[in-house]
Amino acid sequence: MTDVRPAVYSGPQRVFSGVQPSGDLHLGNYLGALVKFVAMQDDAECLYCVVDQHAITQWQEPAKLTAQTREIAAAYLAAGVDPAKAIIFPQSAVPQHTELAWIFQCVARVGWLDRMTQFKDKVGKNKERASVGLYTYPVLQAADILLYKATHVPVGEDQKQHLELTRDIAAKFNHDFDRPGFFPLTEALIEGPGARIMSLRDGSAKMSKSDPSDQSRINLTDDADTIASKIRRAKTDPAPLPDHIEALADRPEATNLVGMLAAMTGTNPASVLAEFAGSGFGPF
Ligand code: AMP
Ligand code: TRP
Repeated sequence: MTDVRPAVYSGPQRVFSGVQPSGDLHLGNYLGALVKFVAMQDDAECLYCVVDQHAITQWQEPAKLTAQTREIAAAYLAAGVDPAKAIIFPQSAVPQHTELAWIFQCVARVGWLDRMTQFKDKVGKNKERASVGLYTYPVLQAADILLYKATHVPVGEDQKQHLELTRDIAAKFNHDFDRPGFFPLTEALIEGPGARIMSLRDGSAKMSKSDPSDQSRINLTDDADTIASKIRRAKTDPAPLPDHIEALADRPEATNLVGMLAAMTGTNPASVLAEFAGSGFGPF
């Protein structure tokens, strides 16, 4: 892990990340987040949170939410997070997350939140009916991270903008209260082919818990036969695999399958293509 602490910040290197208990986890969550959680637990202090208060920004059945919160914690353990090395906890057990979120709501600007693309994507034309919490969601996320003065946050690519907002809030707080280096400028750890896993049915949409088609995603609880069948039925195109990455430019489904194999085997798309160049999707 590279040291990203600015000279004015003297706290320790610390990792924080969170997953919402809003449904079953899928391969995108695993490759974009969980694999990185495990990889970092030997190098730094790590806190992995189940962000139940983020989940309630959209309707959740109360009884199901409790069960799903435990299931995400179980998924952390199953993926290899070791509770002797990393702290695993539910967000609602620590009231200081929401306390700091209030202070940050008074630091962040409406203009900053108005630019958040995830909110716009989620509400579409129904902004009037969205919860206020869904709108201020990224401010609570900044509080999760900065409450622990975390320096690194492993996440999938869809969280990039929220991490930029976290830095903006930290910088404005430090400036407004004249405390340079009070909060670190947290770095998002996003790199690698697993950072953006797309739907198996549409290479331009991200793999997501909320996609109505179960064929679009590989759930972590799917058995081997189900996974094999979903991969065999995944959308592809008629051309064979090329021998260089540039040739995948307008082939989103092929790009996704190559990226998935690279992420699962810990290599990169170039080495996958070196092995499968000229092959059709059947053998691949
Ligand atoms: P969420 O399910 O939205 O709470 O996301 C939990 C973690 O999984 C976050 O770090 C996301 O960025 C990551 N993630 C979610 N979907 C994907 C995806 N399709 N590809 C890669 N990472 C993802
Ligand atoms: N917004 C993140 C997601 O949907 C979940 C999250 C909440 C999070 N707080 C966080 C991720 C803090 C990293 C750090 O995926």
